Amino acid sequence: MESYLVTGGAGFIGSNFVLSLLASGRDVRVVNVDALTYAGNLENLASVEDDPRYRLYQADIRDARAMAEIIAAENPRYVVNFAAESHVDRSIEDPGIFESTNVGGTVNLLNVVKSAWEEPDGGFGEHRYLQVSTDEVYGSLPLDDPSAYFRETTPLSPHSPYSASKASADFFVRAYGDTFGLPVLITRCSNNYGPYQFPEKLIPLMIRNACRHEPLPVYGDGLNVRDWLYVEDHCTAIDLVLHEGRIGEVYNVGGHNERSNIEIVKTIIRLVSERLDDPAIDDSLIRFVEDRKGHDRRYGIDPAKITAELGWSPETPFEEGIVRTIDWYLAHAEWVERVTSGAYQTYYEEMYGHRGAARA
Ligand code: NAD
Ligand code: DAU
Repeated sequence: MESYLVTGGAGFIGSNFVLSLLASGRDVRVVNVDALTYAGNLENLASVEDDPRYRLYQADIRDARAMAEIIAAENPRYVVNFAAESHVDRSIEDPGIFESTNVGGTVNLLNVVKSAWEEPDGGFGEHRYLQVSTDEVYGSLPLDDPSAYFRETTPLSPHSPYSASKASADFFVRAYGDTFGLPVLITRCSNNYGPYQFPEKLIPLMIRNACRHEPLPVYGDGLNVRDWLYVEDHCTAIDLVLHEGRIGEVYNVGGHNERSNIEIVKTIIRLVSERLDDPAIDDSLIRFVEDRKGHDRRYGIDPAKITAELGWSPETPFEEGIVRTIDWYLAHAEWVERVTSGAYQTYYEEMYGHRGAARA
């Protein structure tokens, strides 16, 4: 039996990871530790809540005592740290919580697993700690040099408070490996999309607004480029790195699927319009609004290392993944309704009101 402790398992990628592990047919036990912030949603995990192989703890990764007690009680072989504040726009409004959760929480977790796992000879047995990081730590690529990519050797050059906090956490993770011999691994993935993503991020926000005939707020000139990966492919990569990655190494995860934001938005408009048979959903909904501060121009992952060393490559072409994603959101209108009632309304007004696309 393989035992996992996943943090942030009620969020977008974490819940997809938990569900995929439990559906894998392997002999696994999964403990999910989540503080259940605005981004954590137990509804994502409703299908497994009574599964005896699954256990939830509502706890904060910054809480040393709670984390030590959970690790002592559960003794997981693996810890996979998804827990984070993850939205760049929120980090521009309130950087402090990003430092606290993403840096402080990670350091706390590293301390707890180090104390719990270290053996008298200084070894760590079969344990592994995997930090789920992001390509944003590398900064931004130019639009006019399509041959430039983020490689594991690319120097870290974060620009937003979010990416600065993730880069800082990565340095701590590496330091615990180098200094204490903690068996750590880091994955740095590009933009994910798929079911259960909170509608503050580009793709689910645009699907939701399109369905409601509401303005689609595109930042700046819409030509910023992101490298999109279907969430299940990210989950597969994480588990592969956990099992077969070389300890202490970083693995970039991405599938060479770069698209400009305006291309993504127009694709969503076309597909939602087709699927709802609603010609009123068209490009007239697009609003070019004030740009994000410090907006990174282009992300592009070179996944050569994970492909060559571990044989990973993505299985879901974008054309298929985006249709699956749109169909999931159309079939889960109540999920969208629930997560966007209440505090989301205030968030939307604050984030988009001054940009001239306020109706949520
Ligand atoms: P998310 O915002 O959807 O989920 C974050 C989860 O962490 C939520 O369930 C939340 O309740 C939980 N959480 C927040 N603070 C916590 C705390 N102090 N203690 C315990 N739990 C806490 O995020 P996501 O998009 O699923 O991203 C997960 C991880 O993957 C993050 O570390 C993010 O940096 C990284 N990542 C995300 C993407 C992407 O495109 N979404 C790409 C690459 C890497
Ligand atoms: O690259 C990986 C990162 O991808 C992750 O580490 C982050 O956790 C995740 O949030 C994501 O960051 P981005 O900032 O790239 O994602 P977001 O969906 O917020 O924005 C994608 C692009 O779309 C970006 O260029 C900004 C733009 N955008 C976004 C929103 C929400 C718009 O034009 N309008 C919008 O309303």
